Parts: sequence; structure tokens; C-alpha cells
Amino acid sequence: MSDLFSKFDPVIEQRETLLESGITDPFNLVMERVESPTVAICNGRRTILLGTYNYMGMTFDPDVVAAGKQALDDFGSGTTGSRVLNGTYVGHKAVEQALKDFYAMDHAMVFSTGYQANLGIISTIAGKDDYVVLDIDSHASIYDGCAMGNAQIVPFRHNDIEALEKRLKRIPEGAGKLVVLEGVYSMLGDIAPLREMIAVCKANGAMVLVDEAHSMGFIGENGRGVAEAQGVIDDVDFIIGTFSKSVGTVGGFCVSNHPKFEILRLVCRPYVFTASLPPSVVATAATSIRKLMDSADKRAHLWENSKRLHAGLRQLGFTLGTQEPQSAIIAVIMPDLEKGAAMWEALLNEGLYVNLARPPATPAGMTLLRCSLCALHTEDQVGEILGMFAAAGRATGCIS
Ligand SMILES: Cc1ncc(COP(=O)(O)O)c(C=O)c1O
Repeated sequence: MSDLFSKFDPVIEQRETLLESGITDPFNLVMERVESPTVAICNGRRTILLGTYNYMGMTFDPDVVAAGKQALDDFGSGTTGSRVLNGTYVGHKAVEQALKDFYAMDHAMVFSTGYQANLGIISTIAGKDDYVVLDIDSHASIYDGCAMGNAQIVPFRHNDIEALEKRLKRIPEGAGKLVVLEGVYSMLGDIAPLREMIAVCKANGAMVLVDEAHSMGFIGENGRGVAEAQGVIDDVDFIIGTFSKSVGTVGGFCVSNHPKFEILRLVCRPYVFTASLPPSVVATAATSIRKLMDSADKRAHLWENSKRLHAGLRQLGFTLGTQEPQSAIIAVIMPDLEKGAAMWEALLNEGLYVNLARPPATPAGMTLLRCSLCALHTEDQVGEILGMFAAAGRATGCIS
């Protein structure tokens, strides 16, 4: 019998080598207590959180928490069913209405995760004989949505407008075309040139889906994302998003103005064949989304945090993923996994949690320390964070 697990041997070996060096496992951290969106207790120590997607700090918002508790009392702990059978409660309708209001769009469909939203929408709308054209740095859920469907997949170089145009022009006349883009690319924290790309898509008869997972709530005048910030939201056919980042809970969605959109509720398998979100989750999400509509001050403060951290890290001598801060994600590029893991551990020992990211999640084989800021990080905390980076960077030889 051949062992089906032998294909994992290279990963097992890489992991064992790393742990044999005595380093704390970067992928097995336990949060013993979470005190706020910016502070947790890890290994018995107060730790500043700089590696969550809690961009707008909604997880401890008193109104959000109260809505969840009330829904738990009123509707119980779960729906135990699909949206198309017994799993649609008033709360699911209310969160879809909150999304329609937030984006000023006609339709909203809520999934159990953002991953499932991409899986469902992409695999359902792009069928046999259609083409999906996607940025090569797309999130795993986008690739998995492509893999689950039957369309032809055409990747193009990251953020390359000309490459996108060339690929579109090569597609046979009359074929269905879906271009999938992200507002913010989560590994390096860079944004897409959506205005130019969407113009190319429209000129070549393609529909456009933009995943705004990392921009919702923060980027754009109303927090609708990069498409709003670049003035092209009306040309986007489908926006995908998640509740697991700025909204502060779990869940995913698609919003659209397509007149036939509602049929997806019957034909989209990752929507139909899974249980709907618990009532407490949709209640927290709806409350959070409505509060995000009115959060201009928080958005401004988050931009300040992002600019300060980016400038401070550059000044310390770190190499960053972008020349200028483009989002709430600042990626620090490490020379290799060993150095990256050592730096990650040194930061943790200083009392700072960041994300260690490595291939295949990262582009071009990079090891990254990904910092994601929160609107509730104070100016003092950003100062503390920079002090920790200076100390850990010198201790590990990452900076001189
Ligand atoms: C671009 C992008 N899309 C979708 C998702 C999936 O979101 P969720 O956590 O809701 O499954 C993520 C999660 O990290 C993401 O970065």
C-alpha cells in the first residue's frame, strides 16, 4: 500500500527542521485571553495584536456584542439548516439588507464564509466554454472557485494592465468572460489599478468581480473598497467580501446589481448545500456593517496608523512590500524562512504578534512578517510597536 501522506514529506521535513532549531511554532500560537481588538494574553504575556484582520476594531463594540447576545437568547445557537430550507431567519434578511444599504446595490447574498462566497460565485457563474481571467496573486479561495468550476482559467501577471488586455484579446469571440480582481492584495498590502483594469475589461466585453475582503470598511469614502476609492464601483458586476475582517465576525457575501442575481440562491452549491450562519453571527454582522457606514473618523485614524508604521519601519531599515502605504497591511520582507521565524519569535518575546507568511501563500517565494493595523491602535501603541521592531530587528541581525 502506498502511503497517501508521502506527498506531504517535504512540508513535514521543513517544519521539523524549523522546530528542531528550538523556535516557537509560529503556526500554533494560542490566545489565552483577548482583552480588546489590539491586546491579548499569549504565553501569559500582554501582547499587542498586529496580525489580525480586525481593521475597524469591531469585535468588542458594545452594540455589536449586545446584538449577538440578544439573538442568541431570541433565536438559539444555530439554524441547523441551509438557507434554502429552514436556515433563513429574519436576521439573515436583515444582514443582507444592511449590505445592500452599505454598498447601495440591489442584491446581497450571504455565505457562511468569504472562502465559500468566492468558491460559490466563481464556480457557478463561469461555466463550461466560459473564461475566468485572474491575477496570478489571487487568494486561494479564488483559485479554488476556479478549480471547482468548469471554465477555462487564464492567469495574468500581478497588477499588469497590458497583460490583462492581451489575455482578454486572445479569448475567442463570443465566449463568456469573467475577470477576477482584488481591491487589496493581502500578502504585500498593495492595491489594484482597478480604474484602468476595469476599463480594459469593459472594452473587451468581460464581466468583473472584485474581492474587497481587505478594504471593506476602511478604503473609500464610505468604506466600500478600492473600487469606490477609484470611482469605478458602478462598473463592477460583483463585489465579494467577508465578515471576518473589518466586520469583526465570520461570514462572506456577494453584492451585485445584476437583474438576474437572485437565481444564484437556487443554483450555487456552496450556498445551498451548507448550513447558514448562526443567528448571533448575522446579528453582530448587521450591527457592525451599519456602524461601519458612519466611521469616517476611524477610517482617518487607521490611515494615520498605516502611514506612521510604514514610515517608521522604513526608517529602521526594513524592506517593505510597498513603497508607500496603500492599505492597512504593511508587509516586512524577510530574507528567508529561518530569519523570518527568528524575527517573528523575537517580536513575540517583546510582546508583539504579527503574521508570519511563507510560500505558497506568498508571491515569489517570499517570507513575510505581515503587519495589519487596527483603527483602535493608539498613537502610543504604534510607537511601542516600532520600538519592538527595532529591538527584535537588531537582536536577530535583520537590521543593523
Ligand atoms: C482576498 C480574500 N478573499 C477571501 C478570503 C476568505 O475570507 P473568509 O475568512 O471569510 O473565508 C480571504 C481571507 O483571508 C481573503 O484574503
